[in-house]
Amino acid sequence: MTRFSPSTRRALRFGAVVLGLVFLSACAGDAELDTRSNLQGPEAQDIESFLRWVLWIAYAVFFAVLGVTLYAWKNFRVKGEYEEGDWPEQIHGNNTLEYAWTAAPALLLAVIGVFTIGLHNSLNSSDSNPINVVVGGETVNWEPEIVVVGQQWWWEYQYHFGDVELSAQRIETLPTADLTTATQMVIPVGQEIELEITSRDVIHSHWIPSLNGKRDAVPGRQSAPWKIQADEPGVYFGQCTEFCGLSHSRMRMQVIALPMEEFQDWVTAQMEGVDLDAEDAAYVDQLVAGEVVPPANSTQRAIDTFRTKCSSCHLMEGIADDLWSAERVAEQLVAGAAPNLTHFGSRTTYAGGIVNLYDPETGDFNANELREWLANPEDVKANYALPVSDDDSRMRGMPNLGLSTQEIDDLVALLESTGPRPSDFIIEESGVE
Ligand code: CUA
Repeated sequence: MTRFSPSTRRALRFGAVVLGLVFLSACAGDAELDTRSNLQGPEAQDIESFLRWVLWIAYAVFFAVLGVTLYAWKNFRVKGEYEEGDWPEQIHGNNTLEYAWTAAPALLLAVIGVFTIGLHNSLNSSDSNPINVVVGGETVNWEPEIVVVGQQWWWEYQYHFGDVELSAQRIETLPTADLTTATQMVIPVGQEIELEITSRDVIHSHWIPSLNGKRDAVPGRQSAPWKIQADEPGVYFGQCTEFCGLSHSRMRMQVIALPMEEFQDWVTAQMEGVDLDAEDAAYVDQLVAGEVVPPANSTQRAIDTFRTKCSSCHLMEGIADDLWSAERVAEQLVAGAAPNLTHFGSRTTYAGGIVNLYDPETGDFNANELREWLANPEDVKANYALPVSDDDSRMRGMPNLGLSTQEIDDLVALLESTGPRPSDFIIEESGVE
């Protein structure tokens, strides 16, 4: 038997402890992205029960092989001193055994394969479950479906309430959505929601482990039907799971499941533009008409800043509709899209879901971190907001706009006013670290 020196043994023992710790570090109780607890809806639960069966089969195979190995080791090893000719009887070839160990795994894999295909088919099928939603004063029969668009480095969610055939269309050819959000997808509870997943730049992968498995977001393609369902109101966390560049790890998202009534209120609020008082609305009208008017208060200064500095990428309905256009954004950004900020204050995270807009404990509006983000986005989230090349000035992510302290303070106040403020339940549940 090989003997190790004491120092080698110490090193081996140390290595084993480190490996064990690494192994244990993968375990966490109620982690945000736990794939085996707090599962909601038939999709995630079917995946979990299938996984459990496969695991049991794998355990059985593992212990069977281990048992046979231990048996052979115990019974057929040379005991005591080895002497020439101590070999046990050597045999070669055993047809029965060879058939058995070829057929058994093949059969096992075939059984798992049949169930895999069954699960695959059920995950890729969809039920018709139209619900009534009031959109702009009219009741619409909506087959719950949301277009999910990945881009460096945030997720966009589009809601098309009209009778639009969304699948098989490319993102550029989709009609303008009725409403668009970033980072947080709001859904009604207890309903199957179909997701049409695509990308504007590179391949991303959409994953909300509590609600379903992963699905790639591939530019120029619409994913096969995918769906999620939350049985209980709550916030379900997700993360981009396809390496997509510098801020891949900061490309997070959340699903917020609300009771139907609250979902309706959310839709109603999102369909409206920014709520301005008469004076400020008149100020916007003057700017739209091309008049040069000095701003009279903080909101008007913020409107002015937003129009001159933010609106080349961001849309804020009711403030800069006349300036914003998809073509103009495409000239600025590789992805050709930036979050719609009309109801920024109704979301609880921004910058790819890594910063809290409201303190999850106190519920206070988190103005300081928003100021930092506006002052130097690159410090908060690596954006690589540099021109692509000498002849291509498009960027990825939010650049530093060189805003003054005054401009930042005004913008923060404007952004805070763009609610409606989410419920305390959402603020508390959606907090990120
Ligand atoms: Cu998007 Cu990783």
